[in-house]
Amino acid sequence: MIKASTMIKNSSISRLKGVQTKEQLNYKFFFLFFAFTLIYSAGCTKPVEAAGVEELCPQPRFTKQAPPEFYNLKNPLTPTEENIKKGKLLYLNKSKPMPCKVCHGANGDGQGPMAKSFKPHPRNFTCAKTIDGVPDGQLFWIIKNGSPGTGMMGYKILKDDQIWQIILYIRQLSTHMS
Ligand code: HEC
Repeated sequence: MIKASTMIKNSSISRLKGVQTKEQLNYKFFFLFFAFTLIYSAGCTKPVEAAGVEELCPQPRFTKQAPPEFYNLKNPLTPTEENIKKGKLLYLNKSKPMPCKVCHGANGDGQGPMAKSFKPHPRNFTCAKTIDGVPDGQLFWIIKNGSPGTGMMGYKILKDDQIWQIILYIRQLSTHMS
């Protein structure tokens, strides 16, 4: 009892003096910590919702358009089994410094292990609604030069034919159900 009353006394004196007691500070820290946890967890759940299905297909697309001399290019290669197979190997493993699947996903759905760290998200090649409207020449230009300001880097190291093979592979990833 004596202790409690002296505490009250002490704290009212220190409040008068404009000094905060240890108890008051602890309380403040606890409150701040609680508020921070609330705000932080609210912030954490948001991006998960934002990356939900509605954003995947049709996928919003703001990529810069290729200059006309690229945009209008048609794939010079035919979709033979061999060309598609080579494209697939490059997409999954062989393209340097990083294979496409790391971001675009092994099945092309734009959900590779690194995808979450990028906004805009990597293109979802399984979404016909989005990818069908993007001409071959545009895909070629972006794969060669990248999309500045996004996670998509340029693959100058690939030969033109290799890029066209990858495009043949990408084209048959969309199911035409989406
Ligand atoms: C480090 C992550 C990353 C890797 C690796 C990567 N991409 Fe991308 N890619 C992206 C992102 C992010 C976008 C979205 C860019 C945008 O919105 O402009 C993108 C967009 C694209 C597009 C869409 C172009 C358009 O005009 O819509 C194509 C095609 C593409 N990537 C092909 C590839 C290919 C092929 C590879 C492998 C040779 C590859 N990407 C590797 C992150 C990546």
